[in-house]
Amino acid sequence: MRVAVIGAGNIGGTIGGMWEKAGHEVAYGLRDPSKKKGAKSMADSLSGAEAVLLAVPGGEVVNFVRDRAKDLDGKIVIDATNDFQATSFNSWDELSTLVPKAHLYRAFNSLGWDVIANPVMGGTQVDLFYAGPDGTTKSAVEQLISDVGLRPIWVGGADQVGTVDGVLRLWYTLAGLRGRRIAFKLISD
Ligand SMILES: NC(=O)c1ccc[n+]([C@@H]2O[C@H](COP(=O)([O-])OP(=O)(O)OC[C@H]3O[C@@H](n4cnc5c(N)ncnc54)[C@H](OP(=O)(O)O)[C@@H]3O)[C@@H](O)[C@H]2O)c1
Repeated sequence: MRVAVIGAGNIGGTIGGMWEKAGHEVAYGLRDPSKKKGAKSMADSLSGAEAVLLAVPGGEVVNFVRDRAKDLDGKIVIDATNDFQATSFNSWDELSTLVPKAHLYRAFNSLGWDVIANPVMGGTQVDLFYAGPDGTTKSAVEQLISDVGLRPIWVGGADQVGTVDGVLRLWYTLAGLRGRRIAFKLISD
């Protein structure tokens, strides 16, 4: 799959690198492409991309999406950003208004990048809880999650974005008490 990764720091760099290893064609979009070998301008990275990972600071994501709305609309857009300074961790309402035709997902935001980089703990595969529309684009997102070694657990549609962010709140709280190498597993009969 052709994927644009916007921001190549801890999260973008980690997930993008794992997607490259899994065989995806990854274009990193940076404001200064000289910072990473092979990176492109934001606009160039989006050209031809089927899916886009938003991995910039949470306070910047709305500005980015506003600037690039035309390039993003219609694509699979995965929001991994968290805004710890705001009332809500996510900018879902603004994003979904700016790109109404995008297939918008909330994923990769509820675990530390260092967990995602090595998503097996005590021999158990880590689960990633995510939300977004059901249908064919969901299968593509599940594949992208599986391709970094996580087990995708769909929590529901856009109305469940807050639930995914609840997982982030739990992870962040427990990471403060127990360290960052923690994660969650859904178990069932
Ligand atoms: N760190 C984690 O464990 C983790 C886990 C889940 C979700 N997240 C979320 O993922 C996002 C990225 O976190 P991170 O830890 O990867 O941060 P990071 O290491 O600081 O990387 C941020 C990336 O965004 C770019 N960037 C910064 N300001 C920008 C702007 N105004 N416009 C466009 N690009 C900009 C940076 O590029 P420059 O070099 O140009 O500054 C860099 O490539 C955040 O929203 C964070 O909450 C983080």
